[in-house]
Amino acid sequence: MSQSKIILGAFVPGVLTGAAWRLPEAPKDSFRSFEHYRYIAEKLEAGRFHSLFFNDGVKVDLDPGLEKGPNSVRWDPLVLAPALATVTRHIGLIATASTTYNEPYNVARKYASLDHLSNGRAGWNLVTSLGGGENFNRSEHTLHGDRHERAEEFYDVVSGLWDSWDDDAFVQDKASGTWLDSDKLHLLEHQGKYFQVKGPLNVARPIQGHPVIAQAGSSEAGIRLGARVGELIFTAQQTVEESRDFYENIKGQAVAFGRSRDHLKVLPGISPVVGSTQAEAEAKYQRLQELLDPQSFLSRISKFASLDYDLAELPFDDVVPLPPENFSTDSHPSRQKLVYDLIRRERPTVRQLFDKLTAGGHRVLIGTPESIADDLQHWFEAGAADGFNVMFSGLHAGIDDFVDGVVPELQRRGLFQREYVGATLRENLGLPYRHNRHR
Ligand SMILES: Cc1cc2nc3c(=O)[nH]c(=O)nc-3n(C[C@H](O)[C@H](O)[C@H](O)COP(=O)(O)O)c2cc1C
Repeated sequence: MSQSKIILGAFVPGVLTGAAWRLPEAPKDSFRSFEHYRYIAEKLEAGRFHSLFFNDGVKVDLDPGLEKGPNSVRWDPLVLAPALATVTRHIGLIATASTTYNEPYNVARKYASLDHLSNGRAGWNLVTSLGGGENFNRSEHTLHGDRHERAEEFYDVVSGLWDSWDDDAFVQDKASGTWLDSDKLHLLEHQGKYFQVKGPLNVARPIQGHPVIAQAGSSEAGIRLGARVGELIFTAQQTVEESRDFYENIKGQAVAFGRSRDHLKVLPGISPVVGSTQAEAEAKYQRLQELLDPQSFLSRISKFASLDYDLAELPFDDVVPLPPENFSTDSHPSRQKLVYDLIRRERPTVRQLFDKLTAGGHRVLIGTPESIADDLQHWFEAGAADGFNVMFSGLHAGIDDFVDGVVPELQRRGLFQREYVGATLRENLGLPYRHNRHR
């Protein structure tokens, strides 16, 4: 625990736990309704959430679960986030962009623009992508090692471009007719393995110096990148012990890179289902589970976590077989490990695993505002988290339950902010302004 209060970010894809869209009260077409996102942003801002995070990919998974799963299409977060910036004032807006399937100049420019548009509330979730080569002139997805090598250099170019101008370069002196001071311009002249970029960027330096960098790698290469450049670290962790190990590991590596432990915040994901009693919360979850098609869900999760077997092909009440001793994947090694560890530790039946994995490997917390606050407090005080990335069911009710129930309970305990403390996302997260390297 490196600060006195919990950070809360929201994970906002189109719809999350798979089946919420089927509830009779769920509005149709919310995934293509700006009003849906606007409601979420306004509600979470009223609940003093630090940030909204929009995940993203660059392909549609044409797998057996395609027809049942609601996550095949979504708006580009870099189009949605600016729209939400105009209807909110405090909440951070963290959009995902891939370093594998973009050019650094475009990315630097878009996030610098978003930072200006939102008055310093932009964040970039830096990902290497879980697939998509077929949409970018390649026959397959770039290899894990190459993706990470490119990502390291990509970040260096983007952050270098953000330092193209001193903060006070644009003097706009009407008397002399001088618009900018060219002594305050810095060419990047980057010549690397993947990129040759001269610069400068054609956007002024971002309000925060640099937008906040979010990152979610959990493999060796992923953690290294997070430790070097990440400021918000998203992670999936099933036990407090594992999360504490991860927390110490990534913060230790950050210190070895010359950074302060406090300048990266670790946010494990949680998916809460809140009821006024435990029984009510469990009934809400059961209602969702009954609407989820187990076969297609299990196939999808098997593929997402790169399992060596398809869980959907196993009898529902059988104990899941022990995973292979030696396993590896090029797609999502950390999630593969998380699921295999869970199978080894708990020896669940397929049904029990199905109930545990509906948030894709993030913990599903079913309880009352008090019991969920107890859990979050425990993880926070145990040094396993600086805060949490909260994944809602996609329904407005799931968000309302958390904001109206768990948030006030955390505030009552002095664990969560009652007001935003700063003007920018950095200030609200307790992260320092990023000074220009040429200063
Ligand atoms: C909470 C969370 C959100 C993520 N969001 C995205 C995303 O939007 N797009 C993406 O391509 N990968 C996303 N990822 C995957 C990570 O960026 C990373 O590729 C993955 O965890 C595999 O990391 P590793 O290669 O270091 O194992 C997310 C991971 C987590 C834990």
